[in-house]
Amino acid sequence: MIEDLWYKNAVMYSLDLETFMDLSGDGVGDFEGLTRRLDYLHALGIDTVWLAPFQPTPNKDNGYDISDYYGVDRRHGSSGNFVEFIHLAKKRGIKVIIDLVVNHTSDQHPWFQEARSDKNSKYRDWYVWSKEKPDDWDKGMVFPGVQEATWTYDKVAKEYFFHRFYKFQPDLNIDNPEVRAEIKRIMGYWLQMGVAGFRVDAVPFILESQVPNETKRKQRFEYLHEMRRFVQWRRGDAVLLGEANVIPEESMKYFGENSDGIHLMFNFYVNQYMFYALATGDAEPLAKALEATRNTMPAAQWAHFLRNHDELDLGRLTEEERQKVFARFAPDENMQLYGRGIRRRLSTMLGNRLQSELAYSLMFSLPGTPVIRYGDEIGMGDNLSLEERNAVRTPMQWSADNQAGFSKADKLIHPVVEEGPYAYEHVNVETQRRQPDSLLNWMTTIIRLRQECTEIGWGDWQILDTGVPSVLGMHYNWQGSSLVVLHNFAEKAYEVVFDLKQKEESKLVDLMANTESKVDDKGLHHITLEAYGYRWFRAGDLSHLMFKQG
Ligand code: NOJ
Repeated sequence: MIEDLWYKNAVMYSLDLETFMDLSGDGVGDFEGLTRRLDYLHALGIDTVWLAPFQPTPNKDNGYDISDYYGVDRRHGSSGNFVEFIHLAKKRGIKVIIDLVVNHTSDQHPWFQEARSDKNSKYRDWYVWSKEKPDDWDKGMVFPGVQEATWTYDKVAKEYFFHRFYKFQPDLNIDNPEVRAEIKRIMGYWLQMGVAGFRVDAVPFILESQVPNETKRKQRFEYLHEMRRFVQWRRGDAVLLGEANVIPEESMKYFGENSDGIHLMFNFYVNQYMFYALATGDAEPLAKALEATRNTMPAAQWAHFLRNHDELDLGRLTEEERQKVFARFAPDENMQLYGRGIRRRLSTMLGNRLQSELAYSLMFSLPGTPVIRYGDEIGMGDNLSLEERNAVRTPMQWSADNQAGFSKADKLIHPVVEEGPYAYEHVNVETQRRQPDSLLNWMTTIIRLRQECTEIGWGDWQILDTGVPSVLGMHYNWQGSSLVVLHNFAEKAYEVVFDLKQKEESKLVDLMANTESKVDDKGLHHITLEAYGYRWFRAGDLSHLMFKQG
């Protein structure tokens, strides 16, 4: 087994500079602030930070509208601050991956400005144009209800341009070899600056060739191979982590049949069935979703997450399933978004500590790389009075001090949560650090546990037949070391009985309680799970492997 695929057992932490820590006092988070918080991240136990876009931007889509790919937005500091941050992160063993947003630029990018005003400019063909208004001008919007079109008339260019997202985000023409060369330059630049890879934004749309009125769009998967080859030539251990909310049958094409596509991909499908299980107590559809997305390629890997900076997209559930999740987690219309998603944070949806632990324990135990969203480690809430997805983008709550210890400014980029049970006075890092049983300390412990259970990143897995629909049981094996993980989604306790005879595993060692359980005289395991209970066991007589590293 090739053991130096670092991402197999990495624990990632996603954050947006803007709302993490403001040291300059202008109300916007910056690299100096983030650098000061590296020790916090190190103590939490994470080993990879994923940074949301921080390049110069008009900031109309949380930085996903870039106007210069080779810089740092002045609000966040300078390139010097970036390098300093990377250097100090490296010293603590923390890798940094950054967003690669190349499906589109900002309409303020000089390339687009020149493209629209000069037909003969080389940049004209860097974007996607149509002289006529395409019949499908109002089809395929990613943000329905907010975004009105995908083809918009530009008065300066006197043509229609294509934009998969908002109209201030014109799509780049990836069919143009010059655009591809420029994207390589961008990747090369940031790799040279020390990043360990990229979270690639909007992958399915990057792969799509845009032709007006074309119903069957070609997807150029070969372009993913090209990106991967480039990245790997430049830096052997760099990774691509793809954002692709696709159906399970499509996903293997992204990894590439010969592991020549992207290394990691967010598992949106399983994510939605995790929320379904949490909402209904029924774990069976989640087990099916895991099977449907089983990855058989040793070098490829899923990334698992609970919430992120966007809406919780439930678009892959059936209407009936979605309505059940809405009923439990987003009963008010204001909590929903784009007709298919939820714009709340995890803690406010779940509403109790037991279920939060269950959700995170589950995420850490799924076959893949776990990704935590900043603030979830302390159970931060949301602010539904903010527009669209901004509800979940409030500043990190460091302390009970003014502005949650995030900034000294009077006015912030987004207001801190200051009312109700999730207000910074109640929910913050400083307080939780001092409470032994806080969510923050629990999270630190489970991160350490995940890092000790390398079977999850490397091993083979099977769903265990627990006989209880609300209990998901998983068995992992890697190099002779096994793990059994159980999660009960029901509000009541259950005893589960299962059989590991074939695997000759007669003893289970509880990794959290450090107790043992043995099989009965029929060779069956009996485990009692509390309401919303979860248990992690090493199986067999393998306690000597408890701290195996990989
Ligand atoms: C996906 C990102 O997650 C989202 O936040 C952004 O709005 C779109 N891509 C457009 O870049």
